Amino acid sequence: LVLILDFGSQYTHLITRRVRSLNVFSLCISGTSSLETIVGHNPKVVILSGGPHSVHSPDSPTFPYGFVEWAQSSGCFVLGICYGLQLMVQSLGGVVQVGQKQEYGRMEIEVEKTMGMFGGKRVGDRQVVWMSHGDEAVQLPDGFEVLARSQQGAVAAVANPAKRFYGLQYHPEVTHSPEGMETLRYFLFDVCGVTAGWKMENILDEEIKVIKGMVGPEDLVICALSGGVDSTVAATLVHRAIGDRLHCVFVDNGLLRYKERERVIETFERDLHLPVTCVDASERFLSELKGVVDPEMKRKIIGKEFISIFDTFAHNLEEKLEKKPAYLVQGTLYPDVIESCPPPGSGRTHSHTIKSHHNVGGLPKDMKLKLIEPLKLLFKDEVRQLGRILNVPEAFLKRHPFPGPGLAVRVLGDVTQGNALDILRQVDEIFIQSIKDAGLYDTIWQAFAVFLPVRSVGVQGDQRTHSHVVALRAVTSQDGMTADWYYFEHKFLDDVARKICNSVRGVNRVVQDITSKPPSTIEWE
Ligand code: XMP
Repeated sequence: LVLILDFGSQYTHLITRRVRSLNVFSLCISGTSSLETIVGHNPKVVILSGGPHSVHSPDSPTFPYGFVEWAQSSGCFVLGICYGLQLMVQSLGGVVQVGQKQEYGRMEIEVEKTMGMFGGKRVGDRQVVWMSHGDEAVQLPDGFEVLARSQQGAVAAVANPAKRFYGLQYHPEVTHSPEGMETLRYFLFDVCGVTAGWKMENILDEEIKVIKGMVGPEDLVICALSGGVDSTVAATLVHRAIGDRLHCVFVDNGLLRYKERERVIETFERDLHLPVTCVDASERFLSELKGVVDPEMKRKIIGKEFISIFDTFAHNLEEKLEKKPAYLVQGTLYPDVIESCPPPGSGRTHSHTIKSHHNVGGLPKDMKLKLIEPLKLLFKDEVRQLGRILNVPEAFLKRHPFPGPGLAVRVLGDVTQGNALDILRQVDEIFIQSIKDAGLYDTIWQAFAVFLPVRSVGVQGDQRTHSHVVALRAVTSQDGMTADWYYFEHKFLDDVARKICNSVRGVNRVVQDITSKPPSTIEWE
């Protein structure tokens, strides 16, 4: 195991992912975790992440008392990155100062000694790296040597091989350090002697073993399927482990996309053989939403209805099988549970958040269900890999995200106005199908149509029309937190707009949303 101690760098999770991509299992925990926690993981390598702090600030985080002694006696290798290097240098008796020249961005470094992570290099070799630091190590602790310096003469890499301490002032984990990945690979395999054995197949086998051991032969397990990748992969994995003791429910809330229910159920039943109860609650949701225009109110109503339906599903199951469900499967991912070390003054605490259901504020407390979260150590792309092993169809794994409240946040205003939902479904389907036909679906993070509660004047077939306006939105993004609007070619937009106006009755105008996030959000409500 490679254990990453997070001292608050924006790149920490990237280190975890880079190590995993080398087929070595890595976990990320708070940099201020107790020594007991660190020792409990029995790591072969500990990586100290970067962070926004200066080792000189009074509240700067540090590893626990006894860490250095433990690292020495356990035979563990330690690599400090950026703040991690400075922390190591300062803690072991060296000197860190505010740099004469601060180094931010691309820099060239030159190898001075061919050892440690530069064992495969030659003296004088140069490489471009990504620096981001104000402080600088100016005097190294006893036994340490400088392996490389920046073009400005600052220490860029250090090592004390006898004690197995290593440090990089730059960030090898970012793509702006083109040789960074190779340096990490060399360090882990050639310097630390780590072996690459972590594979998604192992994760699957391990998770199945854990679930089999946890769920008793008489226990019932329930799961709400949203039609999204996470809940589908989680349920499929649990189904592999315990078979039909898993009971899934899929709720048609009347706010789904064109043929969504049929498409999703077909995948669950035909491709995945998942036992799923489909509850058609569309009338119930739509009657509760009638006349509601406030977006937050819509979300609350949808969440409340969902809880109530899920509750009824659990109770019905209990009556039918004369047994209370004991477990709930959730598709929680690693980014939701990672403990991180927040920068001082950020207001964040070392919190351990557990994601509530995709579109509800939490399930009723009196359900007293124990959680099964088989994806809680995985990142999104790893969940997709796991899904492939579990035979979840590729097209399903690559679907764009869809919000829990569904089309309710894409029909502005009252979702029950006229035939708004129907119009929106048709427009959305044309737009998405055109994107797929143009081969653009996988490069776009999310694309959808929005129904606007306004009418405009048009002329169709020599007739004056007074019809609806729809908006098209497509964005690129890494994680949905920020987004850029997608540049379609004019010809593509022209074709889509024509197709929509020619085939969807009630629409005579198509506009495109050209705002990024921020200042907008991805969804309109
Ligand atoms: P925004 O609109 O906040 O959306 O920029 C960011 C991402 O989150 C999705 N989204 C939701 N997902 N429940 C969800 O499960 C919600 O209430 C919700 N609201 C927005 C949105 O589709 C985008 O991917």
